[in-house]
Amino acid sequence: MCMIEKIAIACDHGGYSLKEAIKERFSSFEWMDLGTNSEESVDYPEFGKAMIEAIEKGDVERGILICGTGIGISIAANRSPAVRAALCTDTTMARLTRQHNDANVLALGARVTGPETAFDIVQMFLTTDFEGGRHARRVEKLG
Ligand code: RB5
Repeated sequence: MCMIEKIAIACDHGGYSLKEAIKERFSSFEWMDLGTNSEESVDYPEFGKAMIEAIEKGDVERGILICGTGIGISIAANRSPAVRAALCTDTTMARLTRQHNDANVLALGARVTGPETAFDIVQMFLTTDFEGGRHARRVEKLG
């Protein structure tokens, strides 16, 4: 079981309401909210970059990113070698990306994944450990 307490979270306008719902549902965690803070249209690369900064500076070990599909914001965040952002649409993906990829950022698509499923994915992502072993060698090769 992971003992993560502080988690960064960021979204664009498409993910704003899910971001707020996740913070409320998982209120026992300390959230580092990187925005955006309304449904006013913004550009998802800026929030992917904010997540990169939080991870690279060591402010947090884990993060959650949300846009409409989860695609754009995960592409943006994965431009840093410090980030392994995984777009997950179910709990099996969340479990396996923690166990096998040591993903440190979860990406969600608020327009494709409903809130209850998203909560289950977040729960799985935050409580599953990396398996190491042969997977560590592969993660190492990601650079
Ligand atoms: C914004 O309209 C939308 O393009 C964005 O939320 C995301 O889905 C991009 O990948």
